[in-house]
Amino acid sequence: MTSSELLLKPITAEDLAAVVELDRQCLGGLWTIDGYQRELDSPNSELWAVARSRHQPQSLIAMGCFWAILEEAHITLLAVSPEYRRQGIGALLLSTLLQKAQARGLERATLEVRSSNQAAIALYQKFGFKIAGTRKKYYQDNQEDALILWLGHLVIGH
Ligand SMILES: CC(C)(COP(=O)(O)OP(=O)(O)OC[C@H]1O[C@@H](n2cnc3c(N)ncnc32)[C@H](O)[C@@H]1OP(=O)(O)O)[C@@H](O)C(=O)NCCC(=O)NCCS
Repeated sequence: MTSSELLLKPITAEDLAAVVELDRQCLGGLWTIDGYQRELDSPNSELWAVARSRHQPQSLIAMGCFWAILEEAHITLLAVSPEYRRQGIGALLLSTLLQKAQARGLERATLEVRSSNQAAIALYQKFGFKIAGTRKKYYQDNQEDALILWLGHLVIGH
């Protein structure tokens, strides 16, 4: 797939069904449709998606979100459909989120990630995120620790 076939777009109400399905596939059902609707309604939340092609704008294969809190971008989700992983789409989306955060005048970015999630940790580290601490037994499903990652300066590129 060439990047010219992909469409990077803000998530809108029309995408909600596809977003919830992607969430179920990639994140085990993190947020409900009402949760996503609240994100859409919030001026502090930015939701972006990648669609498979410009001709099928609702065929979402990846999504990401951050909350703008004071001068910080809190990345709340980043997910790529399993069959589209390792093609640079996660990096494209993360780069987009960081650019949007910078455009809002935000200065830093942070997130929590499961300590076993090597793929995500490698991606974030590629963008300069550093491990700043641990939240013990943060995830209720398996009592797994969360790593707290920070990017001190929102500089684009990796
Ligand atoms: C984490 C995730 C978003 C990465 O998406 P992706 O599109 O596969 O990532 P990319 O192809 O852009 O990879 C960029 C870099 O991340 C790292 N990376 C990605 N997947 C990796 C893996 N399975 N193992 C090791 N490193 C990996 C590599 O450094 C990679 O660069 P490279 O391909 O040049 O080696 C994807 O695996 C995913 O959706 N996982 C499930 C949801 C999740 O865990 N989200 C993060 C929650 S905080």
